[in-house]
Amino acid sequence: EVPMTVRSLSEAMGRPAKAIMSILFKEFGEMVTINQIIEEETALAVALELGVDLTFKRQKGAQETVTEIVEMEDAPEDLVTRPPIITVLGHVDHGKTTLVDSLRNSKVVEGEAGGITQHIAAYQIDYNGHKLTFVDTPGHAAFSEMRSRGANVTDMVVLVVAADDGVMPQTAESISHVKASGVPMVVAMNKIDLPDVNEQKVLQDLTAQNVLPSEWGGETDVVRVSALKGTGLDDLLETLLLTAELHELKANPNRPAVGVCLEGFRDEGRGSVAWLIVQKGTLRIGDAVICGKSYGYIRAMYDDMDQQIEEAPPAMPVKVTGLDTVPGAGDHFVVVDDIDQARALAEERRHEGRADVLSRHSGGPRTLEDILG
Ligand code: GTP
Ligand code: MG
Repeated sequence: EVPMTVRSLSEAMGRPAKAIMSILFKEFGEMVTINQIIEEETALAVALELGVDLTFKRQKGAQETVTEIVEMEDAPEDLVTRPPIITVLGHVDHGKTTLVDSLRNSKVVEGEAGGITQHIAAYQIDYNGHKLTFVDTPGHAAFSEMRSRGANVTDMVVLVVAADDGVMPQTAESISHVKASGVPMVVAMNKIDLPDVNEQKVLQDLTAQNVLPSEWGGETDVVRVSALKGTGLDDLLETLLLTAELHELKANPNRPAVGVCLEGFRDEGRGSVAWLIVQKGTLRIGDAVICGKSYGYIRAMYDDMDQQIEEAPPAMPVKVTGLDTVPGAGDHFVVVDDIDQARALAEERRHEGRADVLSRHSGGPRTLEDILG
């Protein structure tokens, strides 16, 4: 048998080895190196955690069984262009929420305690027939935490820099996280309506962080906006759509949905509510879902305006009810064939020791194909 290691699993899944190792540590209590040999069962559990479909190919040789991992890829002809998922980052008070608010003509910021964003939230807008999904964060910590859990939902980043303030500590930290992630970035130079702004200083600050503005011959577009007055927003949206086009973002809408939970909370009337973002497939009312340690049938779905909807295609953020408990930010969700599979897996995650799962050989779902149907 060809042993599978953290490294080969990482390569097969196209996910960072670090993400795998942190799952093994956090969920299974196992400290491992990149060359650690891992069992099929464990690999499947990790893959599920990361929202990756795995199938194992076994070839019976004369004396040995070769185990090869192949990600269940969607056929190219099934892929359809999907909206970009854009995370908004930047220093405190530089105007991230105001920007998203004015892009969607809403007033979330007014409802926030002290005007400070506490949770991740996601919204979709329609601009001249093009949809764009925006993820508003409480800061770069949420972004990097999601990524460290393998929840790479972000296609690009809008870095908001207030023109009267320039690059501040959290701006610099955001930049380094974005660089580490390799995600394309557009800078929104915000608050240009203020009298005492210094555009040149912002450009210099960015350059000092190795973010060279395109107007200075670099690769990063810096778009002047006033989130408050609504100026420059067309410019910003056009730039984002161009960037999205360059990256040819696609997904197969005709398959069971997989995606990530951005935020879970308990609602007095609706019970456990999960704010999900669909990455592949289409999520529908009645789907059986496992999300982290939660499971259930999707009972109701709401869009970002709290309107009830029936289904959610790729890149659409939705609030769903029906999960038995509140899932956590960064938990992956997968639609499964029937609720028994979801329940079995959720209960296994809750009640069985993680170390148990590591060494277990029978019982529970055997392959991810079983789980995914
Ligand atoms: P955190 O969520 O706490 O990190 O802040 P944020 O980046 O989401 O900033 P937020 O949108 O809450 O805005 C902070 C303050 O800046 C608010 O008082 C906004 O009204 C103000 N502001 C945002 N954009 C602009 C702008 O374009 N011009 C001016 N003059 N003020 C703005
Ligand atoms: Mg905010």
